[in-house]
Amino acid sequence: MFVRFVFFVFIVRLKPNKPLKTPSFVALFLSLTMNLIAQTFMMNPYDCPDAVSLNGKWNAIIDPFSRGEAMKFYQNRKPQKNTEFFEYSFDHGLRLDVPGDFNSQTPELKYYEGNIWYQRTFEAEKKDGRRQFLYFAGVSYETKVWLNGLEVGRHEGGFTPFQFDITGQVKDGANDLVVLVNNERRPDGIPAMNFDWWNYGGILRDVFFINRPEVHIRDYKVELKRGGGGIAGYVQLEGARSPQELVLTIGGLDTRQALTTDAKGFASFEIAASPELWTPGNPKLYPVTLSTGQDRITDEIGFRTIAVKGTEILLNGKPVFLKGVNFHEEIPQRLGRAHSEADAAMILSEVKALGCNFIRTSHYPQNEHIVRAAEKMGFLIWEEIPIWQGIDFTNPEIFKKAEKMLRDMIYRDKNRAAVIIWSIANETKPSDDRDKMLTGLVELCHQLDGTRLVGAAFDNPRYDKETSTFRLVDKLADAVDVVGVNKYLGWYQPFPVEPNRIKWEVADGKPLIFSEFGAEALLGKRGPDDVAHEWSEDYQAAVYRRNLEMFRNIPNLRGTTPWVLFDFRSPYRCHQTYQNGWNRKGLVSDQGQRKMAWRVMKEFYDTK
Ligand code: GCU
Repeated sequence: MFVRFVFFVFIVRLKPNKPLKTPSFVALFLSLTMNLIAQTFMMNPYDCPDAVSLNGKWNAIIDPFSRGEAMKFYQNRKPQKNTEFFEYSFDHGLRLDVPGDFNSQTPELKYYEGNIWYQRTFEAEKKDGRRQFLYFAGVSYETKVWLNGLEVGRHEGGFTPFQFDITGQVKDGANDLVVLVNNERRPDGIPAMNFDWWNYGGILRDVFFINRPEVHIRDYKVELKRGGGGIAGYVQLEGARSPQELVLTIGGLDTRQALTTDAKGFASFEIAASPELWTPGNPKLYPVTLSTGQDRITDEIGFRTIAVKGTEILLNGKPVFLKGVNFHEEIPQRLGRAHSEADAAMILSEVKALGCNFIRTSHYPQNEHIVRAAEKMGFLIWEEIPIWQGIDFTNPEIFKKAEKMLRDMIYRDKNRAAVIIWSIANETKPSDDRDKMLTGLVELCHQLDGTRLVGAAFDNPRYDKETSTFRLVDKLADAVDVVGVNKYLGWYQPFPVEPNRIKWEVADGKPLIFSEFGAEALLGKRGPDDVAHEWSEDYQAAVYRRNLEMFRNIPNLRGTTPWVLFDFRSPYRCHQTYQNGWNRKGLVSDQGQRKMAWRVMKEFYDTK
């Protein structure tokens, strides 16, 4: 599967009408293929001792007519002769914070969709027998990277990490790094042309220069042995040509295990141990160290089981109700993408105040600081790739793009015990193409990770007036382990009858999570609780009360995630009194003030 994937994507990516001289074609083929392998098998910099942060102020050029590649911005040349000049320069101009979206850094970029060029230099020390990489935790939406004037790689997708092997291009001393980012929406994108959140573009997340030993730890998994009875997992080294010795230790369990890899650097292990299980109430993490003669990785690992049994979700064998909330990766007060540990702490402090044990990081893999902080605080996580509404399922390219995003999301967070659900779609319309593609993605997800549940969110349950019942007929709902329902009764559609008379026959025999519900309210706006167009807190709170009343009648309800924790920015929202480019469904305003509905939800969770 992997080899096919590498070969196929490479051929598809070359522009057939682009004349390439043989030598550069071969170099490009090898470099792209190597980078694709390096990209797919990437080291996690947050556990890695050799990762140097490249965060900070970078030079930038706005390139609205996309002329920069033709003008070779990536060479970053300076005039050498009197007769020479270049109609670009990175110096003495725009400077942008990395990480961070560019839209929120200067007024003229608020709505910008197009090319932005970033440039900085960094010092490197080339040592024999070491490999060098550039790691990007997240760049939206399409990226091309050059080092010292040579292209080192490309990436599509705004929310998963990627890395490029630059061993052949990096120099001793100063290195010139140029990154082209394009955030234009595209019909064959994931997400595509329309989505209800701000189209933040730029180098959104952390960037690292990583200088690794020739033979280093590239990948590992440490988990409870499936079926119980201990701890199991594997280690994969990069660069091994013969069996290698390494040591695995797990602090707090008095475990020290010597391992010998095969000639390709792979070793699996099983250890008799009885770790304290990770739970929201006791988010126990163990310090895990993997060390070879030259390399050492540390991580903090939690151990738990998650399963579905009938309509129950079982955490460590016990039924759990998921008291959750949705949030976008956004800090409303800064008008920008959240990206730091401090941002994660702010968002999650509000999640904790609401009384949650669960989060849905809608609608894309959010930055690793949020996932790791949530795990430390004891929040279970539903993570998803941004297959959101209008995706072009007739285009076979979409499956490959979705497959890569899914692989990279799972690859990055497979050791995060808090993650219990991988979700592969939000509100997609049934069709033969969509059913085939997404049920295929469900199957792939189970193959990539047999330890977690696979979910999706559906807005297409249909109401039957005769029986006052919602039902869902959908092949994708039949395929997933957990069904999410997004229904805005009391907002986008009135309650068809009194809430306590509504019946739900959706996802029979499996767990149902009400993954979105709510209404909009402008903080401080008061009014009658039965008039939607007043946009009042009273109305929003009444909608919450009526939904919670209805939930009592859902026999297989195993979780709720109201939409949404904070007001968030969206180009969809154009009411110039109440919205002004904000989706006002937040339980908390964009200035961090809690609305009346927050209290309704808090009281509900306090009863659970
Ligand atoms: C949808 C969608 C959200 C959107 C919300 C809304 O269900 O999943 O991304 O923001 O409804 O309309 O506010």
